[in-house]
Amino acid sequence: MSTVRKAIAASLSFALAGTALASPALAQGRSDAVAPSLTLKAAKSQHRAVTFAAAPAQMAGTLVLPLTGEADLATRASALSDAERDAIARALKAAEFDYKGQGSLSLRGIGGWDRIHVVSTGTNMSPAAIQKLGVMAGRALMKDKGPLTVMAGGLPAEAVAELATGMGIGEYRSDLYQAKARDAAPMAGTVIVGDTAGAARALYEGRGKALVEAMAFARDLSNEPANVIYPESFVERTLAAFAGVPGVSIEALDVPAMERLGMGSILGSGRGSARPPRMLIVRYTGRGASSAGPVVLAGKGITFDSGGISIKNSGGMGDMKFDMSGAASVVGAVLALSKSRAPVDVVAIAALSENMPDGNAVRPADVLQAMNGKTIEIISTDAEGRLVLADAVAYADAKLNPAAIVDMATLTGSIVTALGDDYAGMFSRHDPLATQLLQAGEASGDDLWRMPLHASYADDTKSTIADIKNSGASGAGAGAGAHFIGAFVKPETPWAHIDIAGMAWGGASDVKAAGSTGYGVRLLEAFVRNFQPVPKIAAAD
Ligand code: BES
Ligand code: MN
Ligand code: ZN
Repeated sequence: MSTVRKAIAASLSFALAGTALASPALAQGRSDAVAPSLTLKAAKSQHRAVTFAAAPAQMAGTLVLPLTGEADLATRASALSDAERDAIARALKAAEFDYKGQGSLSLRGIGGWDRIHVVSTGTNMSPAAIQKLGVMAGRALMKDKGPLTVMAGGLPAEAVAELATGMGIGEYRSDLYQAKARDAAPMAGTVIVGDTAGAARALYEGRGKALVEAMAFARDLSNEPANVIYPESFVERTLAAFAGVPGVSIEALDVPAMERLGMGSILGSGRGSARPPRMLIVRYTGRGASSAGPVVLAGKGITFDSGGISIKNSGGMGDMKFDMSGAASVVGAVLALSKSRAPVDVVAIAALSENMPDGNAVRPADVLQAMNGKTIEIISTDAEGRLVLADAVAYADAKLNPAAIVDMATLTGSIVTALGDDYAGMFSRHDPLATQLLQAGEASGDDLWRMPLHASYADDTKSTIADIKNSGASGAGAGAGAHFIGAFVKPETPWAHIDIAGMAWGGASDVKAAGSTGYGVRLLEAFVRNFQPVPKIAAAD
């Protein structure tokens, strides 16, 4: 087995632009005694192809009409006949459409259109708000068979591109294994009509389209069950997604490679599973990137969290297939940045492991040693996310000279109690870094709330046998988890931890299909794209 794994490591360690290898050795590496998932076939994710034009291609199918007020009808819908515009105005009046907030009204029976979908922009015309409007429209119109026409005359190019981006994100479906999704015909295209068509197309092609694809990539990974996505298949999916993208190098550390590096913490977390762990490292260096060192994004990639020997209750345990959402989002963010050729230097580290109970599994009271030499007393084997991240951030610090490290994890139930599904919790010792993350949160619509790193968390995680223990004594569970990860980062390295346990998945709504939200892809894409280096100084405590 170990020679097979060495071969995998060798075949995956390459540093050449755009030559992702689909290695035959990789398939052999999946040789654990588990049933092959060969017969499972997932629906291919799709979204409508988007084109931009100065005039509509046809006056049929579905029309999307974004309006801030009644007066916009003349500018936005100048391509319609007077009779069509009058009919729309009368229908909106009759329905008492009030243009407040982000509302919508579908009208049928006007002109040659199957449906005219009027959406009100509200007064908040920020990029995130316009993108959300697009998300809702894309989702509402998924079942429309005909082509879509969006009349966007008079809107600035940025808003038009955000609308198109949102629509693509909203068209995502999560019913991967339902026959109706597998058999779905390709969706008809979207034509976006407006006077800024050229500029809007450039913005969409330059960034938005990559975000749509990266969101679908991350959400597919998260939505896939744990019999399909485990550490090695996560690596395979990543290699396939980055194939041919310039400026990208991918390395997957296998078990012997991690043993050589002393990564006893992630290795301990995965010992109960038939699926061996991996540390996946995806680097993208764009033309014109700063040479201040990469921004490292480390993601918790627990492909299933049963709790291990500290086993979870069975109720809702299936949700723990989403426990790799941080890893999916960090890789998704790098996918978006690389596909849009952003001038940035960024590394995603996906710390991939499956937390299972077994005769070989790590036990409470066991002691593990991370790559930076620190020893860890296991209090709960269910506090495993911090174990895989300890080695991920220590590796980044030791090997990559990072300008900053941001880790993202579905780390604690405690953050869900504190912030619900409205905000992810952000912890940082470096104020200038925290500020940039909060700005990225506002720009992207992935909301963040800063949480404290109180000095008392160090006492809470003191062990009597090892350097630190993996579960705190106090009630501040999310803070103790954040403190633990921070103990594996040099104090002067700008570092932040983002706990997304309340944000990563949820039921279906007007902005999303059931399952993964893709939270973090847009946040980290915006953060890295706009990143300014911050001082490397240890925070005073
Ligand atoms: N993956 C869970 C956290 C989680 C819980 C995410 C609910 C999303 C929804 C994590 O590994 C975990 O089990 N955390 C424990 C930590 C405790 C044992 C210190 C928790 O939050 O209870
Ligand atoms: Mn757990
Ligand atoms: Zn977990």
